[in-house]
Amino acid sequence: MIKEKKRVLVTGGAGFIGSHLCEALIARGNRVTIIDDLSTGREENIAPLLGRPDFFFFENTIMNKGLMDHLVKETDEIYHLAAVVGVKNIVDDPVRTLHTIIVGTDTVLELAHKHGNKRLFITSTSEVYGKSPDCPYSEEADRVLGPTTRSRWSYSSAKAVDEYMALAYFNKTGLPLVIGRLFNTVGPRQTGQYGMVLPRFVKQALSGEPITVYGDGTQTRTFSYVHDVIGAMIKLMDYSPAMGEIFNIGSEEEVSITELAEKVKKITGSSSEIIFVSYEVAYGEGFEDMQRRVPDISKVNKAIGFRPETRLDDIIRAVAGWIAETGRE
Ligand SMILES: NC(=O)c1ccc[n+]([C@@H]2O[C@H](COP(=O)([O-])OP(=O)(O)OC[C@H]3O[C@@H](n4cnc5c(N)ncnc54)[C@H](O)[C@@H]3O)[C@@H](O)[C@H]2O)c1
Repeated sequence: MIKEKKRVLVTGGAGFIGSHLCEALIARGNRVTIIDDLSTGREENIAPLLGRPDFFFFENTIMNKGLMDHLVKETDEIYHLAAVVGVKNIVDDPVRTLHTIIVGTDTVLELAHKHGNKRLFITSTSEVYGKSPDCPYSEEADRVLGPTTRSRWSYSSAKAVDEYMALAYFNKTGLPLVIGRLFNTVGPRQTGQYGMVLPRFVKQALSGEPITVYGDGTQTRTFSYVHDVIGAMIKLMDYSPAMGEIFNIGSEEEVSITELAEKVKKITGSSSEIIFVSYEVAYGEGFEDMQRRVPDISKVNKAIGFRPETRLDDIIRAVAGWIAETGRE
């Protein structure tokens, strides 16, 4: 007897992480449908998949509830990634940010429950921790945010509302879902156009322009490779005890943004100078940032044995190779 392929729906599947996820799901024998409005996603990201008999692309918005109803009904499980992302987009358009993230996720939850409790991955973010100094962040850490007059925090708050709604569905209806709080995830296909730091630095370094560090550059971050991250997402989705739980997914290799700029410069052999730009100039008056952002990954390590495998230098090489080859930014 021929075994039916598992049907998987990926919202935001033409995006950076979504497109890599689709490739991995197809490689493991799934039949993948995506819905993406191409607001920040790109058709080039899914070009290798278009035309395959096990891949279906709906260029549409997750706010189209009629279409979403059909897609969710016809699927076995859902990875929900569609969201407004990028600090620049969030600061420029907080209404669309809040609406897409909160109403979009509400739709996905409601329909997943309505059509027989479809298994669901909710993509959350390290931004939910805000600017708490209590770092590394464990999943139970307090959230510390700035005032609502600073639109930068709207993304953090909207994603936190998603988490509340998801946990409420799990507790009230048994909807099987897992929440992944992704920390900075990087790799080929990530665009630097909306404020993402690594592709922006690499692009600047390759073209000999100044590498622009926002703030004083002492702020630290960690970066994990997209293939490591999607490996964790898929394993968590397959792991039934993870349902109803929240997991950090990220790297513990902490680096200051100035060190990152220096690494990019060295690895690309660039002669670009490194310059510093104030947050006010980069993002406008009153922008706030956090000094450190590092995950505690002991929970996800215990659950599925996750450890990021790709070192930062290798990630930078991969990103630089991709930008040099495709000319994309
Ligand atoms: N990249 C990171 O470092 C990171 C970190 C934390 C969380 N995340 C989360 O991971 C997910 C994917 O992010 P990404 O980095 O791949 O960014 P991305 O912008 O490449 O992906 C988001 C995708 O959602 C699509 N989209 C947006 N609004 C939509 C709508 N209304 N209907 C349909 N599609 C819509 C976009 O076109 C895009 O393809 C997001 O939920 C994001 O919040 C990413």
